[in-house]
Amino acid sequence: MVALRYWILMPMNDFPSTDLPAHVSLFEVGPRDGLQNESSVIALEDKVRLIHDLADAGVTRIEGGSFVSPKWVPQMADSADVFASISRQPGVTYSALTPNVKGFESAMAAGVDEVAIFGAASEAFSQRNINCTIEESLKRFDDVMKLAVKHNIRVRGYVSCVLGCPYEGDISSTKVAQVSKQLYEMGCYEISLGDTIGVGTPRKTANMLNAVLAQVPRDAVAVHFHDTYGQALANLLVALEHGISTIDAATAGLGGCPYAKGASGNVATEDVLYMLHGMGITTGIELDKVAAAGMRISAALGKPNQSKVANAITPA
Ligand code: HMG
Ligand code: MG
Repeated sequence: MVALRYWILMPMNDFPSTDLPAHVSLFEVGPRDGLQNESSVIALEDKVRLIHDLADAGVTRIEGGSFVSPKWVPQMADSADVFASISRQPGVTYSALTPNVKGFESAMAAGVDEVAIFGAASEAFSQRNINCTIEESLKRFDDVMKLAVKHNIRVRGYVSCVLGCPYEGDISSTKVAQVSKQLYEMGCYEISLGDTIGVGTPRKTANMLNAVLAQVPRDAVAVHFHDTYGQALANLLVALEHGISTIDAATAGLGGCPYAKGASGNVATEDVLYMLHGMGITTGIELDKVAAAGMRISAALGKPNQSKVANAITPA
């Protein structure tokens, strides 16, 4: 009753949390997660333009591609060309996915600033995505990590299927926390928790985060939500209330994983920025410029922009 009264009397600007971060670090995955699933060929210049537009908008962390097998993900086959073609802005980190030592070596040759290894909390997804068990993947990642330490390169770690798997269904939070802890202890500076197929809902998100935060420091946790079921912003709010201050998103809501049936786009960067700025949380990013970037890449792909905010603020 007291809590109910508090909610009713509470002024709108008095959000009931002491834990909300004042600033969020936005990790843009559009050029990688956004474009990896496209069926049509994307011109190199469109990829490069997207990365330039994002940096111009103030995005300081951009995942520019993947050094994976071109047979598995043809759309990322030109990642070395992308990295060779971009003009780099000072203060911007340009990163890429590297599933194994071969990928890491290619990433180094391409001048990537930071790499990411990507595991899963689901055995079936691990097999389908990277062709090995979770345990084998951790062994491969350890080899990547050892090389990264030698090269003084920071490594991010993804855990996929944290709120459900297209093949196994429910995934236990204990498993998510266990894999997250293993990646963190291996040396990943940040663990990005992926709701790969966007099936999570807020209470489930809270339970999963509580399990992970018991194992990994809050400052080392990021969230990566796909918006298949329209739950991503609600789940992000839960993450913010848990004090998490790194959010992955893709301009124009592009995205999907080719090995996760039913995975649609990432939460749109524009929608995340609108929510954060509206809550008084800073990002250092200009929403209008990101919206223009999203419109440009959507036009290049011949697809409607999936961001509600971009559509709302862009003149017809
Ligand atoms: P494999 O077939 O088991 O690998 O694939 P292999 O070691 O047996 O090698 C087979 C062939 O692949 C060989 O070539 C290797 O040289 C080549 P061949 O002799 O046949 O000509 N190869 C490579 N080529 C280029 N770069 C490499 C590389 N490694 C081997 N790094 C492998 C294993 C991991 C390579 C494969 O399964 C793969 O590339 N998987 C990537 C799948 C992927 O990129 N998925 C999307 C990203 S994950 C995601 O989207 C989720 C995320 O967003 C978070 C979320 O939403 O949850 C991150
Ligand atoms: Mg993803």
